[in-house]
Amino acid sequence: MDVVLGVSGGIAAYKAAELLRRFTESGHRVRVVPTASALNFVGAATWSALSGNPVSTEVWESVHEVPHVRIGQGADLVVVAPATADILAKAAHGLADDLLTNTLLTARCPVVFAPAMHTEMWEHPATRENVATLRRRGSLVIEPAVGRLTGKDTGKGRFPDPEAVFAYCRRVLDRGPAASADLTGRHVVVTAGGTREPLDPVRFLGNRSSGRQGYALASVAAARGAEVTLLAANTSLPDPAGVDLARVGTALELREAVRGRAADADAVVMAAAVADFRPAAYAEGKIKKVEGEEPAPVALVRNPDILAELSADRPRPGQLVVGFAAETDDVLANGRAKLARKGCDLLVVNQVGVDLTFGSEENEAVVLGADGSETPIPRGPKTALAETVWDLVAARF
Ligand code: CTP
Repeated sequence: MDVVLGVSGGIAAYKAAELLRRFTESGHRVRVVPTASALNFVGAATWSALSGNPVSTEVWESVHEVPHVRIGQGADLVVVAPATADILAKAAHGLADDLLTNTLLTARCPVVFAPAMHTEMWEHPATRENVATLRRRGSLVIEPAVGRLTGKDTGKGRFPDPEAVFAYCRRVLDRGPAASADLTGRHVVVTAGGTREPLDPVRFLGNRSSGRQGYALASVAAARGAEVTLLAANTSLPDPAGVDLARVGTALELREAVRGRAADADAVVMAAAVADFRPAAYAEGKIKKVEGEEPAPVALVRNPDILAELSADRPRPGQLVVGFAAETDDVLANGRAKLARKGCDLLVVNQVGVDLTFGSEENEAVVLGADGSETPIPRGPKTALAETVWDLVAARF
């Protein structure tokens, strides 16, 4: 595929060199179009050597090739990384005073911006409005990460991990131009991972969920333009690009987080494996073995059913609620009964076992709809399952 990597003038330009390598190593042809100020951070020689293509910032070079039109027209994807407040403003207003801004006006393919700037600049009303304008027009603007910025300060505005930006772009490329950004303007909440219910300071009751399916749902929704809140319970996966991530531990913490974040959500997808029970008592000190005595039995109490509660009492009218079911036998019959019991709109039913589904990269499922629909999803990557789930959700919006 033909990718245009626009680089604007921010310190994160050096991270774009890593992003460029990921593209070229996976066989994409990349044309780098830096702004003049980007070259203050990383020089033209680096971009040219790494991309194997000529590099220029101006429309006045190689004029006979009409580069200001040709580069944008021929691209399958334009990604601006890092995108400064300045380039977002220019793009939002359609200015065209250098090669990159001209390219943005001529591109008809998906356009991704990966902003990086200081928190104050990201939060400024001017930038907020520019980002909203770009999103409204169908551009994909990745939320910056939170963390250390150029100086000693930390906050939102950090360029996400280049690997995560690459994964995001690859997903956009996979979807193709027609289907991109169909979740623009939607806020979705996804839960992922497995809750841990503490028994004492060192022990807990947990489960084998890795969080991969929930992370795939979050990444795919972000690549389709949604504003994504990912509530992660005990996961150790890399942060997906462009997702607002909050961590929780227990079922009760997850319930609070879902309640707080779902208030304005268009859809909530409960992919987390929530413990049905928790120890009735928490020992403040570590429980010690006593010589010659059997251990005391562990009493358990029920956890609230977050999915059922949310389905019964939706904080926003028309909100779509999606549940997951892990079944070992009688998958369809148990799935139908569970869908009715939980009261959600869609239930993704997986068959599980020790080597099936948990921690694996692949999944196979059937999605049952409260409207009686039944959508089988053949064995494949968890991102493919995520695409189908969002297709079904988008069709119900
Ligand atoms: N779930 C939840 N709160 C719970 C338990 C589960 O919100 N306390 C959600 C999960 O996130 C998942 C769905 O319910 O979306 C199905 O979970 P599952 O464990 O398969 O169902 P159970 O109700 O536990 O049914 P059973 O144990 O009878 O299989």
